[in-house]
Amino acid sequence: MASPFRVEGVRVEREGRAILDVDSLTLPEGVVAIIGPSGAGKSTMLRLLNRLIVPEKGRVFYRDEDLSQMDPRDLRRRVGMVFQVPIMFEGTVLDNISYGPRLAGVNVDDPEGILRLVSLPEDHLGRDASKLSVGEQQRVAIARALANSPEVLLMDEPTSALDPGSTRRVEQMIKKIGKRVTVILVSHDLKQAEEVATHCVVMECGLVTRQGSAEEAVKGLSWT
Ligand SMILES: Nc1ncnc2c1ncn2[C@@H]1O[C@H](COP(=O)(O)OP(=O)(O)OP(=O)(O)O)[C@@H](O)[C@H]1O
Ligand SMILES: [Mg+2]
Repeated sequence: MASPFRVEGVRVEREGRAILDVDSLTLPEGVVAIIGPSGAGKSTMLRLLNRLIVPEKGRVFYRDEDLSQMDPRDLRRRVGMVFQVPIMFEGTVLDNISYGPRLAGVNVDDPEGILRLVSLPEDHLGRDASKLSVGEQQRVAIARALANSPEVLLMDEPTSALDPGSTRRVEQMIKKIGKRVTVILVSHDLKQAEEVATHCVVMECGLVTRQGSAEEAVKGLSWT
C-alpha cells in the first residue's frame, strides 16, 4: 500500500523565517514518533499533515494523493487529529464522542468500549466535558478521534497532562491501535518514543535531522 504521508520540498514560513523546511520525508505505517525539543516544528508538521497549514512551497501526499487536491472534510475523517491542548465541544462526553459519527449520519459504535480504550470509566459518558480535568479531556479528545474510525491518527503530545499511570495506559493503547491504524505521535519524551514507536523522526529547528528505528534515532539525543 502507498505510504501514508510523503512530504516533498515543503517550506512553511512565519514572520519572515522558516519554521518548517523539509526536503523529502516519507512516513511509514505503524507507530511513528516525531520527537524534538520545544519549538522544533513538531506541531507544525502535524498540522501540515492534516491540511490545517498549507505550505508556501512544496507538496504533501496522503497515500499518493496531493493534499491540496483533497476535500479537507474527507481528509480529516480519514486522518484524525488529537491536539496538544484539548478543546471540548459543548455538551457531555457522549456528545463529544458522537460528534464525528453524527456528522457522517451514523450512531457512534460502542462508546463505552471507546472510553475503556482510553482508560476512562463508563460513567463519564454523561458528564459535562467542559468540567473534566485537562487529563480527562485529553483522553476524551483521543476517544473522539477514535470514534471516527480513522485510517491514521495524528496525536500531539497526548500524554502531556496525564499522571504516570494514565500515561502508561495510553501508551499501551497507542501500541494496540497502532497494529491496525497508523499513529503519528508527537512527543518530546525519548523514553515514550522508544516504548511505543516502530519508526522515529527527529526534528530540530524546523528540520528533520534524522530518522530510523526508535532505538537508532534516539541514540545520543539528550534534550529531555
Ligand atoms: N503562527 C505562528 N507565527 C509565528 N511563529 C510561529 C507560528 N506558529 C509556530 N511558530 C513558531 O514555529 C516554531 C515551531 O512551532 P511548533 O509549535 O511547531 O513547535 P513544537 O515542536 O510543537 O514545540 P512544543 O514542543 O513546545 O509544542 C516555534 O518557534 C514557534 O514559535
Ligand atoms: Mg507542539
